[in-house]
Amino acid sequence: MSSESSLKVAVLASGTGTNLQALIDQVHGRDGISIVAVASDNPEAQALERATAAGLPTASFTRASHSGDRRARDRAMAAWLREQGSQLVVMAGYMQLVSEEFLDRFPDAVINVHPSLLPAFAGIDAVSQALAYGVKLFGVTVHFVDTGLDTGPVIMQRAIELPDARELDDVLPHIHTLEHQMLPEVVRWFARGEVRIASTHPRRVLVGPLAVARER
Ligand code: GRF
Repeated sequence: MSSESSLKVAVLASGTGTNLQALIDQVHGRDGISIVAVASDNPEAQALERATAAGLPTASFTRASHSGDRRARDRAMAAWLREQGSQLVVMAGYMQLVSEEFLDRFPDAVINVHPSLLPAFAGIDAVSQALAYGVKLFGVTVHFVDTGLDTGPVIMQRAIELPDARELDDVLPHIHTLEHQMLPEVVRWFARGEVRIASTHPRRVLVGPLAVARER
């Protein structure tokens, strides 16, 4: 990732797209950051409507349109994202795993936001899993994407104590508030070249100007 303050961002989203909206509202067109592409596996995703309303290029890549071949779909999606100039790919509620081939096109530049404190409660329905377990501490993780299920190196985590939470509605508004602060912050770090995997430890992600300078 370049250390110049300029970054072209692609967003992948399958659903309502509130995280996409947070990026549109808080980082798009500021500090050299622009969202250049929004892609989905779901042509009906509200996220695509939000992108269109913001004047952003959109495309959908369903598995069905590639004869059920996930890797062919990912190849087509990567090619389109590259055509738009994407340098960082943000998975914001994208409900598909991406293939190794896709990740190879964007080395160390695909990130995801997940609504739990990983490695607890990976996969779908993370908040329901946490409620069922009876945890008192909930949270959000922004992490690099690898070929596993929510297993890539952690970039940022924030937690919130909710000892009395019983229902999804007791938790989700807090999770969304955290996500909508965290993702824009992480994208700003990337734009400033302030995210780096430690040379001494492949799972440790250095963030912020001091940590990165120390590695130089
Ligand atoms: C978020 O909670 C995110 O953590 C998870 O999917 C949800 C997407 O929400 N991966 P939205 O579509 O951004 O509103």
